[in-house]
Amino acid sequence: MADLPWYVGYFSGKHWLRNIDYSIDDIFKVLEAARDLKQKFHMGAETPYLKGKTLYLIFYNKSLRTRNSFQTGIYQLGGQGIFISPDQVYAPTLPEDMVPYQTEAIRDVARVLSRYGDGIAIRIYGKPAKWIIGRGHRIIEEFAKWSSVPVLNMEDDLYHPFQALADAQAALEALGWPRDLRGKKFVVSYAYSGGLKPLAVPQSVALMAAMLGADVYIAHPPGFELLDPIINQVKQYTEHWGAEFKITHDMDEAFEGATFVYPKAWSPKAFFPPFSSDGKVHEAEAKEYQAKFKDWIVTMERLEKAGKPFYMHCGPADRGQEVTDEVLDSYEKSLYFEEAENRLHVQKAVMAMTMARFIR
Ligand code: CP
Repeated sequence: MADLPWYVGYFSGKHWLRNIDYSIDDIFKVLEAARDLKQKFHMGAETPYLKGKTLYLIFYNKSLRTRNSFQTGIYQLGGQGIFISPDQVYAPTLPEDMVPYQTEAIRDVARVLSRYGDGIAIRIYGKPAKWIIGRGHRIIEEFAKWSSVPVLNMEDDLYHPFQALADAQAALEALGWPRDLRGKKFVVSYAYSGGLKPLAVPQSVALMAAMLGADVYIAHPPGFELLDPIINQVKQYTEHWGAEFKITHDMDEAFEGATFVYPKAWSPKAFFPPFSSDGKVHEAEAKEYQAKFKDWIVTMERLEKAGKPFYMHCGPADRGQEVTDEVLDSYEKSLYFEEAENRLHVQKAVMAMTMARFIR
């Protein structure tokens, strides 16, 4: 096809497991592609760049946004998305957990699906990854090792790359699409939830804000530290841009004068392997510990006191815990639904870039 846009096949055949596997320049290219696809979507223009292609979507966890934006996105690109529940197939499994005729080795599943289709997307964290932090990511790496078609990370226990790309697009749009986020204070903050949420979003968003040049502030109560390698990488990106980087235990101090605040829940890692002192999973104790921090909630007053930053959250937000109804329903600088919409556009961008099988 002579009239394909520049980005179709730009990363032909590559996996997308973490944004940090790509350069800052590459990330801006994805965002430019997503911007083009969003404009075309809103104009009603057709974008059949992956005609006849198939993406397999393996969900070990629930999803509204990710599942529907991927399935809708591949359809809008002229292809199809096939949903796979691990309950309905021989569950794709690492070698140490194989059960005869109940599971199937990931190395075999990846090679079989590679014979049929053009991409494999996976979501796995929490219970299906045995609550072992990093195991979900290892499972996705195992798919990538054996697949001969692109593997896309739909969220594991360490990274949620497409969420961070969608958030980056929303942040740039909110400011009228500047070249980067230099000089803008971007706060990734803990907010209370009664549920146990993974580290993937705060880690990926902090990395993305730093990749785009923002001054990055991370706020959380003691015990909610992000993983050291992530913090080190955030530092490296902020040093690259000459931007600020700070960790604080005070939500209001962090919010003060921010351009963007991204308050959401994640779980305290000391209650889960490999960080728990006895190597065991302590779900109840983690929830009990989290409950000490119910005052880490985003309210209208808090946002007004901070100077009315843009409010961001990946969704689903826990109303009455992470954020009040009032903020979600009527705060004029909320990007909540823009972020959700942008999942469609960034994922279409990456699918078009990776799943088109030709060398440009
Ligand atoms: N943000 C996000 O990944 O949402 P879902 O869990 O609904 O997919």
